[in-house]
Amino acid sequence: AAMDAGLLLPSSSPSVIFTQDDLKKIAAYKAVEYVESGMVLGLGTGSTAKHAVDRIGELLRQGKLKDIVGIPTSKKTHEQALSLGIPLSDLDSHPVVDLAIDGADEVDPFLNLVKGRGGSLLREKMVESACKKFIVIVDESKLVNYLGGSRLAMPVEVIQFCWRFTAERLRKLFEEAGCVAKLRTFGEKEEPFVTDNGNFIVDLYFERSIGDLKAASDAILQLAGVVEHGMFLDMATTVIVAGELGLTVKNK
Ligand code: 5RP
Repeated sequence: AAMDAGLLLPSSSPSVIFTQDDLKKIAAYKAVEYVESGMVLGLGTGSTAKHAVDRIGELLRQGKLKDIVGIPTSKKTHEQALSLGIPLSDLDSHPVVDLAIDGADEVDPFLNLVKGRGGSLLREKMVESACKKFIVIVDESKLVNYLGGSRLAMPVEVIQFCWRFTAERLRKLFEEAGCVAKLRTFGEKEEPFVTDNGNFIVDLYFERSIGDLKAASDAILQLAGVVEHGMFLDMATTVIVAGELGLTVKNK
């Protein structure tokens, strides 16, 4: 690998070490190049999307973008956009969104995603399914061979009522994949994490591939008590990946 890197980077060039946050910012700024004046924009949630929202605010302030309407995907992004002076609306008033920019937790080779480790999957999925174009911004650590393959959580938003019952039914669905289902908590007291919509999150962890994603999605959504899950199948139109060796733009 060192030899390969040597071929790509002339030995005279100073080596630049990017932090993961630098890479997130590079991907976010690239995505904002696709934003045009007059657009209705879906504003994503998380540490990567935050950079995109900051950049949109900056371009508005500089007068380089005009007549933007932002549709936030979480209370947190709503607050951020408000503080930047981005005019805001919602899907009731703007049922068609021109472009959404958001991060993801996992991206597979077909541009299917896992989202929601930040807990905003439901509003994100509502806004991003109303989009003409959906640009996903990630650093290269988010790329996986198959969804669930990072051994990190695949989130499912469930109603609070009898969440243990729902969690057990979720685990059973994926027993063959070695599924473990855990209630998401926060803080030392391990209090349940409550979403912007007043629900809980059950995080699913898999030992093996869950196989057919569409079948998995349908089975999860069939369970009464489930509100939404974090698999975003066939939704992203573009994925921008920032890595140590540069930017890659993948189109559907
Ligand atoms: C929140 C999300 C985020 O987009 C996802 O978790 C990525 O976050 P980050 O950019 O902080 O890694 O889906 O619900």
